[in-house]
Amino acid sequence: MSADYVLETRNLIKEFKGFTAVDDVNLQVARGHIHALIGPNGAGKTTVFNLLTKFLIPTSGQILFNGDDITAMKPAAIARKGVVRSFQISAVFPHLSVLENVRVALQRKEGHSFHFWRSQKVLDRLNERAYELLASVGLADFAEAQTVDLSYGRKRALEIATTLALEPELMLLDEPTQGMGHEDVGLVADLIKKVSKGRTILMVEHNLHVVSKLADRITVLQRGSILTEGDYSTVSADPRVREAYMGTAASEEQDRADEQAAMEVVEEARG
Ligand SMILES: Nc1ncnc2c1ncn2[C@@H]1O[C@H](COP(=O)(O)OP(=O)(O)OP(=O)(O)O)[C@@H](O)[C@H]1O
Ligand SMILES: [Mg+2]
Repeated sequence: MSADYVLETRNLIKEFKGFTAVDDVNLQVARGHIHALIGPNGAGKTTVFNLLTKFLIPTSGQILFNGDDITAMKPAAIARKGVVRSFQISAVFPHLSVLENVRVALQRKEGHSFHFWRSQKVLDRLNERAYELLASVGLADFAEAQTVDLSYGRKRALEIATTLALEPELMLLDEPTQGMGHEDVGLVADLIKKVSKGRTILMVEHNLHVVSKLADRITVLQRGSILTEGDYSTVSADPRVREAYMGTAASEEQDRADEQAAMEVVEEARG
């Protein structure tokens, strides 16, 4: 029997003006797994991610979701099918309350007209579901808070709640712990583990400690191609992986330090 893959790419290629950023990638994401996409700077992780989430159009190749060809579909169409990307810049509205943000996401999922929501019974049900979602990400006590006032880690938790509102079968996470302090990294990693129950997660993640804790399977990209795949112990013991990371480790660390500093400035400016 063939394995049960939620997502597959076949000979996926993306060229930018003659430069091949993604070079014949055949990715297979098994149902129920947390699958991590890793690799050194410039390996093509973000480009693959943007192809999967339809932010970029492939030069050639196919993307299959549950066996259906979704290569030509728009982001909104794949979201309706159950492929949802989290951690977009504008995923949450800073000046709405935490509860309101989840309600907006739930309404988006239902897609009904404004008038539909005037029924008190429907509104009650919506609030109930919104509170459930907030509780599931540990934000029950923050329902009335202004989103802008949340800590960085809690904003991410809220983003996860708004993603869960869409009931995704496959969650695509773009660097979920990027720019976070130690405490928030742990919080978000635990949360990802928790919400992975009953669904599939594909994440691009720089933090190898997080990858080692969460990922059932890891694909290592290098210069646009898959270098190797396997569980963490297999992949981390592979000398080719170590070699691929050598020389980029120092600059990545610097990148992260820069990011962290930038984030702190932004947070401070926001007050
Ligand atoms: N829009 C673009 N136009 C031209 N080249 C691009 C474009 N986007 C990405 N590239 C190139 O494609 C390669 C892969 O980039 P990508 O951002 O996918 O790497 P990455 O693995 O996400 O790296 P990082 O770890 O630094 O985030 C890089 O050489 C990059 O310069
Ligand atoms: Mg990237």
